[in-house]
Amino acid sequence: MKRNLLVQTIITSLIFALPAYASVGVATIKGTKDASAVSGDVTITETDKGIEVEVKVAGVPTGKHGFHFHEVGNCGDEGNAAGGHFNPEKTKHGFLPQDGYQNAHAGDMGNIVVTPDGTGSLKQFLPGVYLTKEPSIGGRAVILHDKEDDFGQPTGNAGGRIGCGVIELKEAAADNANDPSKHVPEADIVPAEVPHMDVK
Ligand code: CU
Ligand code: ZN
Repeated sequence: MKRNLLVQTIITSLIFALPAYASVGVATIKGTKDASAVSGDVTITETDKGIEVEVKVAGVPTGKHGFHFHEVGNCGDEGNAAGGHFNPEKTKHGFLPQDGYQNAHAGDMGNIVVTPDGTGSLKQFLPGVYLTKEPSIGGRAVILHDKEDDFGQPTGNAGGRIGCGVIELKEAAADNANDPSKHVPEADIVPAEVPHMDVK
């Protein structure tokens, strides 16, 4: 009996010692030209339905700028080495959160609005796109364009590529509350002494 308790304690400790992970991707956006002031950060968190993308940019001219995942994780040649829009389904260009998979490229995030102080941000959920399974944006590029994505064909007429970054996979500690492996087995829950309260 004592031994069983010890074994159980060890097992429970092991369960609690296991780190909880969610897949996270990060990219650092840099200007594609030497003299560029463009900078930014992208954080991507994977869920079982898609990815949550959070972007912050600075040093960018005021206005709307097209923002997409591009096929190749290479920022060379002023961002042109990143190739075309990530388009695993060979669909037309659009706005993924609105148009869905059949009518938009998997990399179509629309525009980032940049305010007069040169900063802009974007927070968006992209359904059906992942980091750790296909279609995956891991290792691909994020491109910030010179002009607005007007959702015209074939790629939104967003012009040159002023910022670029490559998405790297990173494991990050998840919130314990969301991790089933962190749930205390029912048998280990000792009911707390709840003071009796009269219902009035
Ligand atoms: Cu693009
Ligand atoms: Zn596109």
